[in-house]
Formats: sequence, structure tokens, C-alpha cells
Amino acid sequence: MRILVHTEGAERWCEALRQRLNDESLEIFVDDGERLGDILVVWAPPAELFERHVGHDVKVILNLGAGVDSLLQNPALPNDVPVIKLRDAGMASHMLDYVRYGLLHFRRDFDRYAGQQRAGEWAPHRVVRAAHYPVIVLGLGAIGAQIAEGLAADGYPVHGFSRSAHTLAGVTCHHEQGDEGRTLQEVLRDKSLGLKAVINLLPNTEATRDVLNAEVFAALAEDAVLINPGRGSSVVEADLVAALDAGTLRGALLDVFQHEPLAADSPLWQQSRVIITPHAAAPTPMSGAADQLVDNIQRVQRGETLTGVSREHGY
Ligand code: GLV
Repeated sequence: MRILVHTEGAERWCEALRQRLNDESLEIFVDDGERLGDILVVWAPPAELFERHVGHDVKVILNLGAGVDSLLQNPALPNDVPVIKLRDAGMASHMLDYVRYGLLHFRRDFDRYAGQQRAGEWAPHRVVRAAHYPVIVLGLGAIGAQIAEGLAADGYPVHGFSRSAHTLAGVTCHHEQGDEGRTLQEVLRDKSLGLKAVINLLPNTEATRDVLNAEVFAALAEDAVLINPGRGSSVVEADLVAALDAGTLRGALLDVFQHEPLAADSPLWQQSRVIITPHAAAPTPMSGAADQLVDNIQRVQRGETLTGVSREHGY
């Protein structure tokens, strides 16, 4: 069986797989643009990789990340090969760090103190406790659910939003499907929730594109903030800039963007209310990820049928 690896730093991934699998019958190699693999381990590969495999019996495509958006948008992705994504693999704990940092930054007024420092102004703000800082986590997949539960354990009143119904410890879960379902816009516009922070972990799909837009920003509380370590496609960036300029939104911590890297002339770079990180909130941890890859490779070796992500839902 041949395992082809296509990603930045592919040799390290090959090494991690060889060590764990320790199986002479497996050929594990970095994609050289020519050879064919029976199992494809990839992150954002070019269409050419799939075009090269037309007519070859690829057993499974293993995605080296939690989001499958770039794969599903690949014009040459074969329809009949299961695509498996990583589930958490250690990313959730990195993400939770990132979100906690953002919440502390705004809740404890570090944004305001930074401005005051530049102005030489000495003026303490009243401390707002976590218990008085309701937040909502959008997207309750493997990562979103852990973040929601982690923040609830920190003492924040936590709301969650997802397509289908979920039950999570300490989290008030809202969902879209079914008779009692509410749309994301309805939930975010609900003033009774008193939301101070919107944390976006929605996958990039048709249904989530542009959902965080002018209408939503206008409906949030004036001192609300956006924390986005999920996907940039959910946010209408022009609307975000306008809401920040107008002071409709207090600030944003952004890791992901509509186009990455963020263009040099994006007005977001200059926005003093924004903190930008370069899609670095939760890099894929090799150890947890390699364990999941090995598990899936061994299933293929045993002849098991793997169930991939839903092409219809896009995650
Ligand atoms: C990173 O963006 C991932 O999808 O894992």
C-alpha cells in the first residue's frame, strides 16, 4: 500500500507515520508530482494531484486539518473517495487558549488601557467578572464544543449555536434545525442574551458564508466583540471594518480572513480596535494528528469502509 503525503513539511509527517506504523509493506513518501498513492494524506493540495489519480483506486483522502473547505472546493476532488478530517487532535486546547486571551483582553479592558497608555491617561476601569460577560460560540463541532464547555467552566455564561441540536455541560445551546430552531441572525439579535462576545468556529460552507454582516453587527450590544479563530468566509470584512469605524463593535481578535494571507492594503491592518494573528490560533499538532492518521490507515489495511465528511453539508 502506498501512502502519499502532500503538505508543507511533508517529510516530517512521513517520518511520524513510518515510526508509528512500522510496517514494511507500506510505502510512505512525499508527493513528488508524479507518483500515485492509494491513501492521500493532504493539506490544500493542487487540483493536479487529484487529476493525476483519475482512474486509480484511491481508498481514502486524509485531511491534515479540521476544516475540509479547501479540499471540498478543489475542482478535481473525486466524488467517490471518502474524505476524513482531523477531529480536535489537540487543536481545541490551542483554540481555547486563543479565545481565553481574547476574552480577557476585552473583559479586563486591555484594549482601553492600550489607548490610555498612548495618551498618558491614568484611569482604572471597573472589573467585569466572567459571570457578567455572556458569550456565544458559533459552531459546536469537536473544537467548538470543547471551547464552549471550557468557557462555561471558567464562569462565563455561555451560549452555543449549531445547525443541529446539541447538549453540552453548562452551555445554553441554540440550534437552527427543527420546529424550535432559530436562525443565527435571530439568536444574535436577541437582546435578552446580553451577548458581549461572539466566537466564530463555524465551518466554511455555503450556509455559513457572510453570516456575520452589517445587520448582525448592528444588532449586537455596543461593547460587543468578535473573536474569529474559525474561518474568514463567515465575516463580511467591509461590514466589520465599518462597524468598528462607527464604534458599533468594540473590537475584534481575528485569526482568519476571506483571503489569506490578508492583503497588505486591507483596512483591517490599520484598525486600532483589531488584533490580527496569521491563521496561527491552532496549528495542527503532529502527535495527535498522526495517531488519527494511523488509526484510519490501519482501518483501510483491514479492509474496513470509512465514512467521510458530508459533501452535502460541507463538514
Ligand atoms: C485549520 O485551519 C484547520 O482547518 O485545521
